[in-house]
Amino acid sequence: MEIGSDGVAVITLENPPVNSLAFEVLFGIKEKYDEAMAREEVKAIVVTGAGGKFSGGFDIASFPAIQQTGEFGDLNRVSVDLMIHTIEEAKKPSVAAIEGLALGGGLELAMSCHARISAPKAQLGLPELQLGIIPGFGGTQRLPRLVGLTKAIEMMLLSKPIPAETGEELGLVDAIVPPAELLLVARKWALEIAQGTKPRLSSLQRTDKLEPLGEAREIIKFARAQVKRTAPNLTHPQLCLDAIEEGVVSGGYAGVIKELEHFATVVVSDTAKSLVNVFFAQRATARVPGVTDLGLKPRSIKRVAVVGGGLMGSGIATALILSNIPVLLKEINDQFLQQGLGRIRANLQSQVKKGKLSQDKFEKTMDMVIGTLTYKDFKTVDMVIEAVIENIELKQNIFLELEKNCNPNCVLASNTSTIDLNLVAAKIRSEDRLVGAHFFSPAHVMPLLEIVRTENTSAQVLVDLMAVGKTIKKVPVVVGNCTGFAVNRVFFPYTMAACLLVDLGVDIYLIDNVIKAWGMPMGPFRLTDLVGFGVGVAVGAQFVKTFPDRVYVSQLIPLMLQAKRLGESNGKGFYEYDGKRKARPAPDIMQFVKQSQEEAGIMPNNKPLAVSEEDIVEMIMFPVVNEACRVLAERVVVKASDLDIASVLGMGFPPYRGGIVFWADLVGPKHIFARLNKWAQVYGDFFKPCAFLEERAASGVSLSTPIKDSKSRL
Ligand SMILES: NC(=O)c1ccc[n+]([C@@H]2O[C@H](COP(=O)([O-])OP(=O)(O)OC[C@H]3O[C@@H](n4cnc5c(N)ncnc54)[C@H](O)[C@@H]3O)[C@@H](O)[C@H]2O)c1
Repeated sequence: MEIGSDGVAVITLENPPVNSLAFEVLFGIKEKYDEAMAREEVKAIVVTGAGGKFSGGFDIASFPAIQQTGEFGDLNRVSVDLMIHTIEEAKKPSVAAIEGLALGGGLELAMSCHARISAPKAQLGLPELQLGIIPGFGGTQRLPRLVGLTKAIEMMLLSKPIPAETGEELGLVDAIVPPAELLLVARKWALEIAQGTKPRLSSLQRTDKLEPLGEAREIIKFARAQVKRTAPNLTHPQLCLDAIEEGVVSGGYAGVIKELEHFATVVVSDTAKSLVNVFFAQRATARVPGVTDLGLKPRSIKRVAVVGGGLMGSGIATALILSNIPVLLKEINDQFLQQGLGRIRANLQSQVKKGKLSQDKFEKTMDMVIGTLTYKDFKTVDMVIEAVIENIELKQNIFLELEKNCNPNCVLASNTSTIDLNLVAAKIRSEDRLVGAHFFSPAHVMPLLEIVRTENTSAQVLVDLMAVGKTIKKVPVVVGNCTGFAVNRVFFPYTMAACLLVDLGVDIYLIDNVIKAWGMPMGPFRLTDLVGFGVGVAVGAQFVKTFPDRVYVSQLIPLMLQAKRLGESNGKGFYEYDGKRKARPAPDIMQFVKQSQEEAGIMPNNKPLAVSEEDIVEMIMFPVVNEACRVLAERVVVKASDLDIASVLGMGFPPYRGGIVFWADLVGPKHIFARLNKWAQVYGDFFKPCAFLEERAASGVSLSTPIKDSKSRL
């Protein structure tokens, strides 16, 4: 704390990189305040953040400990003692001087002050809901009192920050000044409040911005209905609205008490634990033992060649140029090349439409792709990403050409989704340069990048590709080489289990609806339509070939494919599609279902199996968990959290369930094992629990606990 000759004490938050509010920091603020109050020469206080940032909010790293112990008593001390008694009700006024960001607890601290001065473009918001919690230091009360209920609810429910400029319009910020003048103006403002020439406004006491009670109740009712529709499996948004409502009805202080009560519930909820797990899982992907801890620096990748301008190649090229990495796009003839360039253009145009790219930047970005039909210029690139059709021999020959035509240091990556990378590398000598760059479709939109390593891939090449992945805003997860790699392998039983249920007499659309309601973006049959039956059958065949001991082969999809149903691409699959991609159940589906059921002959006494919604979820998701266990046991992933984040980003596994392994641990390995074991006895080895699951179920050790012995296969 610095006390100036003007009598203003400046308290600076300092906890790099974002001045997060760990308990020590919060109690430090309290100490400084006590000192400022005790010293007579201090007339007013300014709170600010070091390093150009006010505060990123409560320290997320504290959550796991709170969640494990259930100890959150200190929050009461912060919410009531610090924010209300120490700051807001103090005799001496406080002003927050904001720069960079004031998020979550950071904004809550700023709102406890009597005025807020900000530098331009600072980000202000209460994004707590995205971590499964609710604003905890009075945010549910003060924000509505500063900006009105409608805007405050929107900011909280969407976890969306606003720039300081919008904050000024709304009344959250009192003035915007250049960074160089920030402290000066804040000090002056604080003194003027102390002298009575500027109003001393306590946010918690204000009501002028709140809508009248009747209207306020309607706004909250509307928000509740909206949340029920958009997030039916989540309770914390409703609890956030409860706290807001309590404040509107019974006053700010009562609202703070309600907020504390609900915070105590949500912070230890499975939802919050799951979302916090996803938060840390994403960050942990950057740590790969034996790769990222060797002190290797990523080499500069100035230009990338993409071989194949089809669906994937054009998406990959789009992602690269959008992040300013120039691309050389190779195709086999001019017609396909023009089509590929056309797809890239269309991808960029959709970015312009969404307001993510300006028209001016559009042309410049498009100029970053150069088309070619030969390998002539491949000497100029630092990395090649191959994305031609899924054909082993073709890929082998292409890599042979690449080895001949590229620099000896050039990274050679393949986007294959099923072919063993050792096969792809069969004809080349520099196997250490070969790596899988498995993008998900559409490649310029989907955030996951599986980086597949063989036993020969060098650590330097992995570090290079991880850096490129980050540059193009993907989350790179390093995985081992096996059929389907991590995500597609873990989820191959998803559709197989669904087909098995249909062969047992369960309705297709019931299955899809139940799985969607549980939280997947779409059910397995709608997903099969989207992926396409041709791809589905081809990929399915790979799994049947590699894992014959544990597959379920239904005739349902092959029968439909025979009848020229391709899925969404020709408008007919399990659903029928209109021109706007709207799906409705296909009226003639039963002919295929009946035939498939007859050929399977597994329906007990020829009567459809009676299942509950819970049964459907478990019979589809537990085989996925079982395969995830094998992936862990075989060390295809370095750590369980990699599989969690990969399932969320690659398959749309609901983040509020924490990822596939985290969810399985919440459900309990014992229960999962028992259920699988029972079904295996009735329906066969498709459900047979693997040794890893059996061992963890028996020992009580969680699935996500790292395996201690034997060396990694990676
Ligand atoms: N479609 C998906 O969802 C998906 C997802 C992940 C990975 N993949 C993988 O990506 C790869 C490409 O798939 P796609 O869906 O984009 O296929 P696609 O059929 O849309 O495109 C392949 C393109 O490669 C071109 N090509 C063939 N030989 C070539 C050569 N010698 N030089 C240059 N170009 C050549 C073809 O002309 C075609 O335009 C496959 O390995 C596939 O397994 C696909």
